[in-house]
Amino acid sequence: MPEYHLLPDAAAVSATAYDYLWWYEVGIAAIMTALIFAGVFYFAIRYRRRSEADAPAMIEGSRFLEITWSVIPFLVMLTFFFWGAALYFRSQSPPPDAMNVYVVGKQWMWKVQYPNGVREINELHVPVGRPVKLTMASEDVIHSFFVPAFRLKRDVIPGRYNQMWFTATKPGRYHLFCAEYCGTEHSGMIGWVTVMEPKDFQNWLVSGGGEGSMASQGQKLFQQYGCSTCHLFDEQGRCPNLKGMYGSRVLLSDGRTVVADEAYIRESILDPNAKIVAGFSKDIMPTFQGVLNEEQVLELTEYIKSLAETRGGIFTDVQTGPTAGGGRGGSIANAGQGSLDTRGTSMTNQPPRPEANAQAQDASQPPAPLPTSAGTGGKK
Ligand code: CUA
Repeated sequence: MPEYHLLPDAAAVSATAYDYLWWYEVGIAAIMTALIFAGVFYFAIRYRRRSEADAPAMIEGSRFLEITWSVIPFLVMLTFFFWGAALYFRSQSPPPDAMNVYVVGKQWMWKVQYPNGVREINELHVPVGRPVKLTMASEDVIHSFFVPAFRLKRDVIPGRYNQMWFTATKPGRYHLFCAEYCGTEHSGMIGWVTVMEPKDFQNWLVSGGGEGSMASQGQKLFQQYGCSTCHLFDEQGRCPNLKGMYGSRVLLSDGRTVVADEAYIRESILDPNAKIVAGFSKDIMPTFQGVLNEEQVLELTEYIKSLAETRGGIFTDVQTGPTAGGGRGGSIANAGQGSLDTRGTSMTNQPPRPEANAQAQDASQPPAPLPTSAGTGGKK
């Protein structure tokens, strides 16, 4: 007989946290149900009709009772809200030192890429005990990334980035599903998440960086598509200097300020006129919509992120500063297209970005966008 599990494996911090809330809600629901049914049976028997002539006495309502049995359950139910909201907000704020992994959903597979260039399909390898942030995009239709053992599910939507983060707690292999009907082979869009000991993960990660880091591939695209002819680094070009831009606040020509996060970079590549940096003109840069695929956009994004490490932290081509707008202006302005990293990037004056450095080290590559030499390519 197959083993029966009430719940799937719990292999992440989030899994245990959501399970506690779930058990709490089930418990409260059971108690409430029991109370209601006990009341129904008790009153049905206690006040049953005893004879044909039985006429009940007139009863005035009791305000005290009415208020008591309304307010107490209300307060009890509110605990669902506060507990749930606390978990929700935590799920939306990846820790700044989280390891970043890119996931692209496509009919009908999950494509995974690590900053050092390692790619896999329908597999995701992560270390145990370390926060991992997934930046997720879709190349065609809506998919949904679902790992039951982590109790996490998030839609992957064309035209925007979504993110999800977790800290795995137990080495092993766990099912990965697409949880949104996305076409004929939706049911085959499945895979595995492998949680490994940190040392094994490091060995795994350095063993397969086929084509060089994502940033170095992004650098190639940057040359290949002529971005480098307008976005100059050491002098003023026709387009903004991108060094140090990532993570800074950028003043736009319409007076708004946005945080230069992944979503902003993506929009600027695909819809350059959407947000013009102050001092630059519209219609200089062509759109790359339909020219670059999601993976190439992610590689360019990684490259532009890597440029942030080469200069202080503030984007000095434009006026930025506390007077230029609200600290979270970027998050609000980008809200419609899934602003990422609202915690990690709304800073202006923070010279070395620890998370970026940590990431570069963990991927066993120099901080500069150089191709990694290890090249078995076995994970392609
Ligand atoms: Cu992808 Cu269902």
